[in-house]
Amino acid sequence: MTVDDSDEASWSQFWASGSLTAFYGQSDNYSPEFIAFWRDVLAEPVDRIIDLGCGNGALTWIVDEIVNQPEATTEICGIDLAAIEPFAALKKDRRDYPKVSFFGDTSITAMPFETDSVDIAVSQYGIEYSDIVSVLPELERVLKPEAKLAFIMHDEQSAILSSMGYTARGIEFLFQSGGYYDGLFRLDKIQNKKKNVKKLQADPEYRKTVRKLQQIKRSVEGFPPPLRDFLMQHIKGTNRLFAKGLPLKSQNRRHLIKKRRRLLEGTLTRYSELTQAALSRAQYENLIGQVEQEGFTLVQSGNFMHKIDSKTTTNMGWILVAER
Ligand SMILES: C[S@@+](CC[C@H](N)C(=O)[O-])C[C@H]1O[C@@H](n2cnc3c(N)ncnc32)[C@H](O)[C@@H]1O
Repeated sequence: MTVDDSDEASWSQFWASGSLTAFYGQSDNYSPEFIAFWRDVLAEPVDRIIDLGCGNGALTWIVDEIVNQPEATTEICGIDLAAIEPFAALKKDRRDYPKVSFFGDTSITAMPFETDSVDIAVSQYGIEYSDIVSVLPELERVLKPEAKLAFIMHDEQSAILSSMGYTARGIEFLFQSGGYYDGLFRLDKIQNKKKNVKKLQADPEYRKTVRKLQQIKRSVEGFPPPLRDFLMQHIKGTNRLFAKGLPLKSQNRRHLIKKRRRLLEGTLTRYSELTQAALSRAQYENLIGQVEQEGFTLVQSGNFMHKIDSKTTTNMGWILVAER
């Protein structure tokens, strides 16, 4: 899969907003299962590790913590096509990460590393966003003869895909014609025309719009928890723009409503990219075949299953670990 210029701009904007992972608003890093997986993969000391499609470095920081404690000895380079600046976006001090560097505006199909200079290529929900077929020859060039690959990739059947799909449908609900956002713009217009709160509250159009918005809020309150919480947080943030009843400097408010809407549009764009990036079983098996053709032996493969409780596990994507 490949990203076009608008996708690239959308990712650049997303990472600049300071999110650590691609899951909207998440400020913590990935769960303990991910860390355990990477600890296992990165048990041997090496000179250089590269993180493909690193975003704000969710995996890069994990790798640094695993391999560069107590002494920083392994160089770790994150590469991403977006204009990333993880140190600035996450307010991290470079001096605390002496061996970590990032290459933004850089495609993993043409990397700034010498031939035979990389020990391990890792990726967490990154490599599948690019055209994997063109990445493999470039990986073949930069990797040392004895090297390792370790990827966690989206599976079109995973729990991540279904939960993001659910969120996308929730957002579309707010975007419906005559729905939440149309209501907000109408309310803004009505409030701008009124000079005092009493007249505003007596206005039938105002009352109708407020009733409609309350009805939408009640529907959202009835959604299941993670989606409800995500959308209610958004609705509460947007409602604050109307909190004072009649703030008439509302050119400003209109602009702020549009800005809030763009946040959700960004989530929809990332969902659409996610569905394009996610690998079917056939695509995953094809990738394994290509990796084996490059002389690698498969060490670990299949679904990345997380245990929810003693009876339930959930599929978090495909894993591929190979070495030669
Ligand atoms: C879902 S994000 C993954 C970020 C990160 N690995 C994480 O776990 O948070 C996918 C990333 O792949 C990047 N990407 C897409 N095509 C790329 C390419 N050809 N070269 C480098 N990065 C690419 C996007 O810009 C985006 O930041």
